Amino acid sequence: MFNKKTIHDIAVKDKRVLVRVDFNVPIKDGKVADDTRIQAALPTIKYLVGEGASLILCSHLGRPKDGPDPAFSLKPVADYLGDLVDSKVSFVEDCIGPKAKEAVDILKPKEILVLENTRFHSGEKKNDPEMAKELASYADVFVNDAFGSAHRAHASTVGVAEYIPAVAGLLLEKEIEYLDQAIEKPKKPFVAILGGAKVSDKINVIKNLLTKADTVLIGGGMANTFFKAQGYPVADSLVEDEVLEIAKELVEAGGLKLRLPVDVVIADGFSDDASKKVMWVGPVPEGWRILDIGPETIENFCKVISSAGTVVWNGPMGVFEMPNFAVGTFAIAKAVADSGAISIIGGGDSASAINKSGLADKISHISTGGGASLEMLEGIQLPGLVALQDK
Ligand code: 3PG
Repeated sequence: MFNKKTIHDIAVKDKRVLVRVDFNVPIKDGKVADDTRIQAALPTIKYLVGEGASLILCSHLGRPKDGPDPAFSLKPVADYLGDLVDSKVSFVEDCIGPKAKEAVDILKPKEILVLENTRFHSGEKKNDPEMAKELASYADVFVNDAFGSAHRAHASTVGVAEYIPAVAGLLLEKEIEYLDQAIEKPKKPFVAILGGAKVSDKINVIKNLLTKADTVLIGGGMANTFFKAQGYPVADSLVEDEVLEIAKELVEAGGLKLRLPVDVVIADGFSDDASKKVMWVGPVPEGWRILDIGPETIENFCKVISSAGTVVWNGPMGVFEMPNFAVGTFAIAKAVADSGAISIIGGGDSASAINKSGLADKISHISTGGGASLEMLEGIQLPGLVALQDK
């Protein structure tokens, strides 16, 4: 049960509402290259505007290093949003300071103002109280709808909640409900699929899921570290030597629950036209590297997925950007979509694989948060959620 107040619990007519969204979207040649996160924020934005509020939207974009940098401006996102909503959308080139204040002061009900990237100020990531107070001073209410940033305790996600009433937006509520239900009260059998390049990013996720899931399937580059931990040389494959011991412990702790690939696709170079062959898991020949899971593994994994009640998937099974090494990832995508299970996908790569395969509408929930959904799978409470008012 979602136990935080949401925008449905407050009156916002003629109020100024500061909404933290996650508009951290890819920008290519000055244009929005993927609008998933913008679309996902629309229900909250439209609801608040419909209720007669004026909206001040704030977000970070990327990881700018030293203050303002046009490459990380939210201006293209503001322009894009302007085409998606009926309200007037304006943009101001700072998120605090006199320019921002002036823009806020002239904002009318049902209008939307997008503030410039909050990370152009160092106070954002430090959760500086002065910055938070200034952001909060623009509004009567704070709404956090940035699920993707809810694992960050920053001025615009957590700090502002100290100064004005703070509630959840509809996206945040939906994301938390899906993930919480899957982890805490999954329809059984609960199958977790973890892939991607690094084990080090997912050690605690694996540990936590081994206590909750019935089966944890491991694929992708991270499986190589497990192979090496079991004594198989992996030649040129990606591997994390610094976590070999932990990988060994996880295999021991996981027992039959933790399933690793039994066969893999190897290549003699990191390119789509490299020579490739399938081999059983074992010593990888000199000059070769593992780039995908093999057909026997696909069959085994798909069988497990087909009888699941709940599936959570984070991370591709191979280098799916290269068509020759995308077979495992797309087979898993299809199995998840066809399983009939409650299916939740987190992380940009697995979401992109599902979208590319045209199966997105068969998935129960595709999360807009990579890091945030992983932290939930780890069992960590998200600070951006904790900061909001209880029901
Ligand atoms: C994300 O893309 O996962 C979120 O927007 C958070 O971004 P960050 O990892 O730069 O904090």
